[in-house]
Amino acid sequence: MRPDLLARLAARRQAQAEAGLLRRLRTVEESSAPWLVIGGRRLLSFATNDYLGLAAHPGVRKALTQAVQKWGVGASAAHLLGGHRAPHAELEQALADWTGREAALLFATGYMANVGVLDALLEPGDLCVQDRLNHASLLDGARMAGAELRRYPHVDIAAAARRLAVRPSASALLATDGVFSMDGDIAPLVDLATLAHGSHATLLVDDAHGIGVLGPDGAGSVAAVGLDARAVPVLVGTLGKALGTQGAFIAGPRELVEALAQSARAHVYSTAPPPAVSAATLAAVRLAKGTSGEALRQRLRDNIARLRQGAAQLGLRLLPSETPIQPLLLGDAHSALAWSQALELAGIHVPAIRPPTVPSGRSRLRIALSAAHLPAHVDRLLDALSGLQARMPLTTGINGKP
Ligand SMILES: Cc1ncc(COP(=O)(O)O)c(C=O)c1O
Repeated sequence: MRPDLLARLAARRQAQAEAGLLRRLRTVEESSAPWLVIGGRRLLSFATNDYLGLAAHPGVRKALTQAVQKWGVGASAAHLLGGHRAPHAELEQALADWTGREAALLFATGYMANVGVLDALLEPGDLCVQDRLNHASLLDGARMAGAELRRYPHVDIAAAARRLAVRPSASALLATDGVFSMDGDIAPLVDLATLAHGSHATLLVDDAHGIGVLGPDGAGSVAAVGLDARAVPVLVGTLGKALGTQGAFIAGPRELVEALAQSARAHVYSTAPPPAVSAATLAAVRLAKGTSGEALRQRLRDNIARLRQGAAQLGLRLLPSETPIQPLLLGDAHSALAWSQALELAGIHVPAIRPPTVPSGRSRLRIALSAAHLPAHVDRLLDALSGLQARMPLTTGINGKP
């Protein structure tokens, strides 16, 4: 008998429930950063990727509203079929200028950008070497392209080199997150660039969590270490995190961007993002680059320092991270869930991150900070964590070890 697909999926869901791995879809009834209303309760949220608080910035909102008046809501077609509007073109140029690249290409989401660029660059039999903690979309893109995917232990350059050396004559892509989305640490980009250069591989950096946050003018983790387009020919950035809007881009040499516009299927066969969102993103880029962006980054850095200092005083060792992503490792999925639920009872929203998003035994609270947090908000989180530490036993990980 042929196995039933729906029954198999239902069985998988049941197994996830039994292992404490079910994720709950929560509806947020209101939001005013850093506050959310869920189930009628007002919660202080540390679940954001809106690191600069730009999602609700008056300048970004105004740009959106004005552009909706001018352009309407939807783009109504794919970029190549009449959907590419002036706000898209202006935003692409602004993103290229900001990141010091010749050109940029928009995608509707970061997931689509990664899948799109890997599927376009790689062919069956090519080699794709990736950090084990890379975002799922980078792994999926390599698989979709039919490339041979070899993953190396997190930030282990020597292991990456060994994987590249296995097939020295195959075309190869070395791909890494710039800032790792669940650990918050920054990839050893200079070493990876040296390795890519020495082994004739192309380097891709997905800077979803670095753009707007790190580097001169917030130009990202790649700019922070001064790597140009020769060292990092393929730079991915997302717009739905520090820029507070939606979408993503690939920036690089004009030749690459023009070729991707022809062959990245996620770009060719998908409706262009709403032009008004691009207009809002352009306003967000201008804010992020300017002095107000620098002031927001300073507030963010102050919040990061305050949390880390407070946590150290409590003996709560966060994973080593200098970015807004400050994970508190709790080990098993049930502990992470219990801590998240206890925090919620105290009026604080911090999601529990469990497998398959993180490896088994590495479940955690992903504390994400924003410039929208006040010092008092950080203190309130620290107080709540201190209370939990006293009454909730930890199976592992409180000292930062797996
Ligand atoms: C490193 C990284 N790349 C890509 C993405 C996907 O971006 P988007 O949410 O725009 O699809 C994410 C989002 O979580 C991410 O963390």
